[in-house]
Amino acid sequence: MWGPTAVTVAVLLGASAASAQTFKRLGGCPKLGCVFPPDHTDFLVGQHFDIRLEVHAPVNGTEAYSGGVPDEKFSFCIQRGYGPCTDAAKFFNVKEPALEKWSFSYFEDLFAQDAGASTTVNVASKAFRGLQLTTPGTYQAKLKYYKGSETVANWVVREPAQRRKAKNVILFIGDGMTQAMITAARLIAHKSVNGRYQSLMQMDQMDNLGHQMTHSLDSFITDSANSATALYTGKKASVSALNVYADSSPNSFDDPKIETIAQLFRRVTGGPIGMVSTAFIADATPAALCAHTRDRNQFPQIIQEYLQGASSVNSTLKWPTGCDGPDVVFGGGAENFIAGPTSPGGADYYKAFKDKGYNVVYNNKDLQKVATDKKTLGIFSKSNLAKWIDRHVYPQNLLNQKNSPTGDGTDATDQPGLKDMTLKAIDILQARQKKKNTGFFMMSEAASIDKMMHVLDYDRALGELLELDDTIRATIARKYARVCDYRGADAGYIISDLKKIGEYQNTLIVVTADHGHGFDVFGGADTKYLAAQTDDRNKRNAVGVYESSGLSGYTVAEGSLPTNDTVIYGSEGPNFPVQWNPRYTYAAGFGANPDHREGYAINKNGPRLPATRGSSGTLEVNPADQPNGFIVNGTIPVSQSQGVHSLQDVSVFANGPGSEAFRGVYNNIDIFFKIADALALGAQH
Ligand SMILES: *[C@@H]1O[C@H](CO)[C@@H](O)[C@H](O)[C@H]1NC(C)=O
Ligand SMILES: *[C@@H]1O[C@H](CO)[C@@H](O)[C@H](O)[C@H]1NC(C)=O
Ligand SMILES: *[C@@H]1O[C@H](CO)[C@@H](O)[C@H](O)[C@H]1NC(C)=O
Ligand SMILES: *[C@@H]1O[C@H](CO)[C@@H](O)[C@H](O)[C@H]1NC(C)=O
Ligand SMILES: [Zn+2]
Repeated sequence: MWGPTAVTVAVLLGASAASAQTFKRLGGCPKLGCVFPPDHTDFLVGQHFDIRLEVHAPVNGTEAYSGGVPDEKFSFCIQRGYGPCTDAAKFFNVKEPALEKWSFSYFEDLFAQDAGASTTVNVASKAFRGLQLTTPGTYQAKLKYYKGSETVANWVVREPAQRRKAKNVILFIGDGMTQAMITAARLIAHKSVNGRYQSLMQMDQMDNLGHQMTHSLDSFITDSANSATALYTGKKASVSALNVYADSSPNSFDDPKIETIAQLFRRVTGGPIGMVSTAFIADATPAALCAHTRDRNQFPQIIQEYLQGASSVNSTLKWPTGCDGPDVVFGGGAENFIAGPTSPGGADYYKAFKDKGYNVVYNNKDLQKVATDKKTLGIFSKSNLAKWIDRHVYPQNLLNQKNSPTGDGTDATDQPGLKDMTLKAIDILQARQKKKNTGFFMMSEAASIDKMMHVLDYDRALGELLELDDTIRATIARKYARVCDYRGADAGYIISDLKKIGEYQNTLIVVTADHGHGFDVFGGADTKYLAAQTDDRNKRNAVGVYESSGLSGYTVAEGSLPTNDTVIYGSEGPNFPVQWNPRYTYAAGFGANPDHREGYAINKNGPRLPATRGSSGTLEVNPADQPNGFIVNGTIPVSQSQGVHSLQDVSVFANGPGSEAFRGVYNNIDIFFKIADALALGAQH
């Protein structure tokens, strides 16, 4: 057909080409009519979701259309299979939503940004809230606008599993963890003789292995918010979005929401849910279990949503389900609980949790002692928790931080590790699920694998990864564990584990990551020789490649024991390096980094800070970081202070009932469906 429609088609084709790269008019919406959930969305039967429709009229720029006046008379219908396309309000048996209007602007490309020439877009929109699709099958959602243009979203409601295989699910997330990091962690922590390891990582020993692709909805590199959204909701989203599709409106809480695995578990089984992280607890990976916002940085509202649900953030936007106060919330981030500018409504949010019946603990000693019958909030520091290396090898780095979770200005010196938090969480979830035999769902995140990779602190990142592995080991297998501090003093206690509590055969354990970082090891480094050279090019000769890379210096004791660089583990087994500061270290690099200095030596004074703002205002080598090292020039924009995420697929390890489904290669969204099927969450809705 020719005439206006043909013109529209030409404009729209041009639009998709222009908006696909650096900047987008709106991700997931290449045409001028947008449907969210977008094309190629899969649903669990009964999963709650919102729909957002937008019709765009760019005022200027290459897509300028309709004199900047958006079509307000658009129509929207839903077609199941080959049936008729029924007006959406009728199809879902809801009231026709009110028309909303706003404008936004964006840059079409970097030239437009340099010139300050933003493009303005006027929008007409409607949103349907709190819907469900309760019949499996294929659907088409059709938006018709501008007299003949159409945007069609193909949706699939997957056939759900009817039989529940797993009673409990524990999802471990090594944030940013790649196979290269697991290999490097194995190298420094597990002894090998003549090229053969004498022990393995716990992850190496799990029953099923797969890997998942991490692309986001509208960019091939993902962040932790949208990858967590994929893992927990089975939906692709955009960078920074937590369980919503990013719309173009200015409000970051009105974007169309999606129900998460934690909310589904709560709603369908009534069972307890747990969130454990070594990050501040409003950070993206824990937040995505319960919160909904286009902007992951809305920390106070995120915490508020844990306790009171999305409708408490904006009561006019009805949202039917929530986490309803997770039974376990353990992590850092006291600044979002202490009454003040970064707590919800400025209120004392410890008190808000106590008022809802929570036990609240602030240190490891009290965490170990706290009763298991009540919901429990454990906040152990401001910001992110201390790293394993600093807690165990360089504890002096815990001093002078003024990061006490109570806000009294002292140092948070008695922080639990991931293992302490996870095992206690299992005790509490087990005690609470027993009442009705509901099973439990828990997510436990080793957040600082990612955080330390960002700052190129490979040692600390690998320490966090080894702590995650140790946590999985203790969760699965240990009956008793004695933890010794670096001086060999006995800091041990008896820990529970799934076998001891009789739940191992009932528990699906999934270990995965949300995205990667371009980290790998390519040789060894003689740090003594490197430090002795004065010229940058000579320093590089300290790197041994191929046959000169040698063997791991980390698993062989050196000098008199114990020293501060030495960690001795009693019955823990050889799961950590014998020492962290050998002369011969591993030489590692990073695919996407700022200018920095590299000396291949552990940073004894706390996490690295590779780049600092120089006189030009851009990020340059931090002269105080790795002072013995040589300069490595960066590969990312000079506005970036840290390394960034990378493209690679990440591994998935799984044990227990339903774990066979995790073999093979699949998308990150499939993890949601595999867990939901193991729990048969689609069988009742
Ligand atoms: C679009 O119009 C705005 C407002 O008049 C102006 O600032 C901007 O530079 C224009 N952009 C382009 C790409 O022409
Ligand atoms: C709540 O959402 C409605 C609809 O999007 C919006 O008009 C209103 O401003 C929002 N209220 C707040 C407090 O954000
Ligand atoms: C080792 O650590 C202890 C305790 O933090 C500290 O007092 C001591 O100075 C450290 N020794 C060395 C050689 O760094
Ligand atoms: C390399 O890094 C140094 C230190 O940050 C900086 O001064 C220099 O401009 C960089 N070179 C390039 C080509 O970016
Ligand atoms: Zn990250």
